[in-house]
Order: sequence, then C-alpha cells, then structure tokens
Amino acid sequence: MATSDIARRLVQPGKGIMAADRPSPAFKELLAAGGSTVDDHSYRNWSQLLFRAPGLNDYVSGIIMTDEQTRLRDERGDSLLGQVIADGIIPGISPFTGMVKLAGSADETVGGGLDGLRERLAAYAALGIGFTKWRAALQIGAGTPSDYAIAANAYVMAQVAALSQEAGLVPIVEPEVMLWGDHTIETCFAITERVLARTFEALYLHRVELEGTLVKASMVLSGDTCPVQADVDAVAEQTIKAFRRQIPSAVPGIVFLSGGQSDYHATARLNAMNAQYDLPWALSFSYARALQREPMAVWSNQAENVPAAQAALHHRAKMNGLAAAGLWTDSLENAAA
Ligand code: 13P
Repeated sequence: MATSDIARRLVQPGKGIMAADRPSPAFKELLAAGGSTVDDHSYRNWSQLLFRAPGLNDYVSGIIMTDEQTRLRDERGDSLLGQVIADGIIPGISPFTGMVKLAGSADETVGGGLDGLRERLAAYAALGIGFTKWRAALQIGAGTPSDYAIAANAYVMAQVAALSQEAGLVPIVEPEVMLWGDHTIETCFAITERVLARTFEALYLHRVELEGTLVKASMVLSGDTCPVQADVDAVAEQTIKAFRRQIPSAVPGIVFLSGGQSDYHATARLNAMNAQYDLPWALSFSYARALQREPMAVWSNQAENVPAAQAALHHRAKMNGLAAAGLWTDSLENAAA
C-alpha cells in the first residue's frame, strides 16, 4: 500500500491511534508507583490487555508499539502483532532508543536511535508494520527551546521520516512542545508556530512526501502552572490558528498527543476543534496517557480486572473517536461512564 493510503486509513473518520509504546522499564516503574505488584509477565499482560480489547478497532485505526511488543507472544504462543493485524488495526513502531542530551546544551535533548535505522525499518516493514513515530521533546523555559534544539530535532525527525518512506512506512512526526511550566498560551502559540515552521522546512529539505506523512502535535495550551488557564474554546482557536499557518493542507492528518492533559480535557478540546472549524486535514488522537490512565488504574496487574480495564479503555477510545468527528458531548461522556 502507498504511504498516502496508509496515512489516510490511519485518520479515517471517527478513528485515531493508541500510543502503547511506553518501554517495559518505564511501564514497570509506573505500575509500581501506582501500588501494583510487578512481575515477569506484567508487560506482556498489559500489552495483551490493550491490543486485544474487544471492539477497539471501532475507534482505533493504529497502535504504536515498542520493538519488544512486536515480538511478544500470548500464553498460547500466538504473536500479539499478528493478532493486531488480523483485527484490521495498523501496527506502528517507535524505533527510537531514548533521548540523548544535545552536546553543548544545558539540558535539551534529541531522540537517539539513528544507527542502523534503514535496516531496522526494512525489517519492521517485512513484519507488517505500517508506520513509524519519532518524538522531539521541547521544553518551554528561560531561553528554551533554543533555535539549536528546534533545528537539531527537526533535522532528525526529517531524516527518520525520509528513511521511513524509503521503507514504505508512514512517518508520524512528533514535535512535542511540553505542557510543563508557568508560560501563557500566547507563549505556547509563538513557540509552536516556530517549531512547526522549522519542522516543515526540514521535511521539505529531506524530500519527504507530505501526502504520506502525519503530524503528531501538541495542543496550544497554557503551561500547567500558569495562573491563567485558557478555556476549551481558546485552546481550540489558538491551536487551529497555529496549524493553519504552518501545516500544509497536503498533510492528510494531525493526531494529538495528550501530553499530561486530563482525560476530559484531551477529549473536550479535540472535539471543540472538530465541531467548530472547517479544516483541511483530519484532526484526531494518538493518545497514550489519555487512553490508558484509567484502564491501568482499574487493572492494577490483577487478571480478574482485565475485562473492566478493557471496558474502561473502550470507553475512552469511543469518546475520543466521537471527538475526532466533532460528535462528543458532556452528556455522552457521563451517560456512558
Ligand atoms: P501522551 O498521549 O501520554 O502524551 O503520549 C503520546 C506519545 O507520543 C507516547 O509515545
């Protein structure tokens, strides 16, 4: 399938992506922090709970996995990846190997994992993987993100995007402007615009075909500790304004990361953008925390809680699927809860 066809399938109406690519060590840390026991099978069992949730494919078009997850097998020996593909969900890969400190900077980072990437991507494509995701983490602070960090991350994301398309995979380019800090929404707007402009300049230079590319973006938000918090409509307005200025209409879709927003806000804000604006791209979700926070708390690594945790996941996927179509309402949220 051409990358433009895969990209369009990933953002088909009413569907979005589940980011399940938290690596095993970070997952285990989170599970333990929530008061649950951790064992050798926790990561497999959690991945299986997510990937095999009944009805997930009604709202989820793709799942972002770690390398380890592509190789996991259930207790009968069947590949979890194979089951995802059989359910009609497109599997994606996060081929990055962790953040690396940018030389010469105080604490800014760039994603690592470029070595051998061409060969690894060819192997993933042969396994049936349809897309990649690569993240930049840009923190707003005194003098940050620097032009250096913005440019270095744009170049690495563009290099990965070009290599992905060479392997027949859709790149999801994720320049995340982080939520943390006391900055205003106006500051977030200006930085988001600058980051997107640099990112698309780099994609052009690297000859990336935008029709076969998706953007995973952060919303334009007030920093989490800013005393003035922009409301849902202001977030929708500022986010759409930045995207209209900087994301070409050749891009078939933009999928949001949740970035530490509450489940409710991640859904309500996505819905407002789709309900209130006529947009040149599909606008959907690629959430990790805003889909999995509640299911993980319900599960608590207890086998008997799997059906309830899967129901909680299905509920969040459904609410976000509705928001991707601009059809979510408060009353639907509460009625179904
Ligand atoms: P969040 O939705 O938790 O921000 O995660 C998105 C993501 O990219 C995970 O890889």
